[in-house]
Amino acid sequence: MALLPILTYPDPRLHKVAQPVRVFDDELRRLVSDMAETMYAAPGVGLAATQVDVHRQVIVIDVSEAHDDLQVLINPRILWRDGTQYCEEGCLSVPGIYEEVERAQHVGVEAEDADGKTFRLEAHDLLAVCIQHEMDHLKGKVFVEYLSRLKQSRIKSRMEKEARRKAA
Ligand code: NI
Repeated sequence: MALLPILTYPDPRLHKVAQPVRVFDDELRRLVSDMAETMYAAPGVGLAATQVDVHRQVIVIDVSEAHDDLQVLINPRILWRDGTQYCEEGCLSVPGIYEEVERAQHVGVEAEDADGKTFRLEAHDLLAVCIQHEMDHLKGKVFVEYLSRLKQSRIKSRMEKEARRKAA
């Protein structure tokens, strides 16, 4: 297992669109376990492959208190959505920024697991937010893009300043 470097906004690679997974092999399972390890170490509640510069439709999520309920969603698709919620979101690619975003309250999702088996999941509240947030990453979208242009440019310059400080 290995910790993977996480891309930081506004890295243009965060805007790449992930491709569907067709082959469920050991290499994929290694990616999934490395992503889980990276997410737990960060620590975070979700990570999309896009964030580790792998542009395939793979997501890992764990919103449990005990960090013992890993969900792996490969090629996730939303079957239905219902209701509205506003939740303050953060992102491992935008460290230190927390902003409220509008999301569906409930979602029905279909996905494959790491062995290629299709399953369905009904998600509410935080898990639903997390799934929608991570699925956006696979489409090349970062949550700050829901905010006003002014907020986005403030966040962008803060991130760039931080990156320069780290590089110095
Ligand atoms: Ni994120």
